[in-house]
Amino acid sequence: MVLSSATASATATAAAAATASGISAEADSGPDRPFEPACDPLSPNRNLTPITTRINARGALEVGGCQLSDLAQRYGTPLYVLDEASVRASCRAYRQALEQFYPGPSLALYASKANSSLAISALVASEGLGLDAVSAGELLTALAGGMPPQRIVLHGNNKSAEELELAVARGVTVVVDNWNDLELLAAIAPAQEDRVRLLVRFTPGIECHTHEYIRTGHLDSKFGFDPDQLEAVLRHLAACPWADLDGLHAHIGSQIFELEPHRDLAGVLADALQLARSLGHACTDLNVGGGLGIRYVAGDDPPSIQDWVRTVAEAVLAACTERGLALPRLLCEPGRSLVATAGVTLYSVGSRKAIPGLRTYLSVDGGMSDNPRPITYQSQYTAVLADQPEAQASETVTVAGKHCESGDVLLKDLALPPAARGDVLAVFATGAYNASMSSNYNRIPRPAAVLVGDGQAELVQRREQPEDLLRYDVLPSRLDSVS
Ligand code: LLP
Repeated sequence: MVLSSATASATATAAAAATASGISAEADSGPDRPFEPACDPLSPNRNLTPITTRINARGALEVGGCQLSDLAQRYGTPLYVLDEASVRASCRAYRQALEQFYPGPSLALYASKANSSLAISALVASEGLGLDAVSAGELLTALAGGMPPQRIVLHGNNKSAEELELAVARGVTVVVDNWNDLELLAAIAPAQEDRVRLLVRFTPGIECHTHEYIRTGHLDSKFGFDPDQLEAVLRHLAACPWADLDGLHAHIGSQIFELEPHRDLAGVLADALQLARSLGHACTDLNVGGGLGIRYVAGDDPPSIQDWVRTVAEAVLAACTERGLALPRLLCEPGRSLVATAGVTLYSVGSRKAIPGLRTYLSVDGGMSDNPRPITYQSQYTAVLADQPEAQASETVTVAGKHCESGDVLLKDLALPPAARGDVLAVFATGAYNASMSSNYNRIPRPAAVLVGDGQAELVQRREQPEDLLRYDVLPSRLDSVS
């Protein structure tokens, strides 16, 4: 990776980032300098690293004013580090762009499947966002983190009766995904004092890949009603006195770099809105889902949050105007683009295996259990040694995890300076779909997580201990030879 040299404009940009994010810009004085000269502080999804990443006077990497190797020493590794300024900057980018480009009311809901914790729920709630939960666990986390229930939606293609009961009891909006939801709700909702607020999700027939997309009448997806079913559902709901149909929802995919599919989605949603209103539903909300991509490696070039919101807002405005529809409240559900580049995972370098003429494996103390994305999706990442981010690379290594699986490789062909046992490796853009998809494969405990900002680090997730992993095991007494 080519590393930055300080430039006056980059320093100014980083100072603006610090100010925009509410973090004191004072730390910008002195000899430290930005890590990424082209850092876009207003759209963190376009950066490889958190917007506060700096190289300090010792030449070591800092995030949120904390030296990464110090964090590794204090909290141990593997360690998830989350930069508060980057999360806040992303939240503000969504909010401000919605206000700027959409003339009606709007709300961005954080898709908490990307990274669900009390701290992140509290952070995004404090920025005025809402939240999308997909299970009782995510819902309880959001509520306990202080997210107001009226700003939460509950998704899921197979919600349990208990999950629906919890949502209804707490006044959370339910996104109806299928007839099963409606049958379960019909048994729960009529007993409630208030009518249940619903969105209906349908498959929009837009299939999206990173560089191309197609529209089809039907989509092979487990989520949402098939478009053919939509009218029947809307008619059914018109006859449910316990239900308020607040709006419609569709989501086309994730890690999307194109804007055109979202432009197209607006038309599909507006047609459905017209139908719903013609059947007597107030339908004041239109939820376009999430999907904006982020930069994992230098070659990735996602649109900015501003461009994405502008495209969506203008398309919804145009589609509604064309059809003579009163403007709905515009909802969107960003996950990855809110938190991914705020996250850095720190690992300690351990063993080395050099296979002459073939490959050098450098193993770290985590792997597929804290980041299953490389083995699951062949996802690529960017990494440097935390204390020598600018040192000349001297070898190409494959960074392997510690799990008993050959495919447990975090980074292939990474150019690094000589790395010794105990050196701290910083892997960037791990704030989304890492902690939330982590496992205990090989009975490896999950890492701790810290939130950094303004030179302070706070523990927001305690490190699991090997003993914790025994907590839910039960040994039948007939097998217990110990006692
Ligand atoms: N809304 C709905 C209904 C969704 O299903 C998703 C993501 C989102 C919003 C948020 O999408 P985002 O803005 O994060 O792209 N585990 C995969 C990603 C799965 C995304 C699932 N749904 C990964 O690690 O890439």
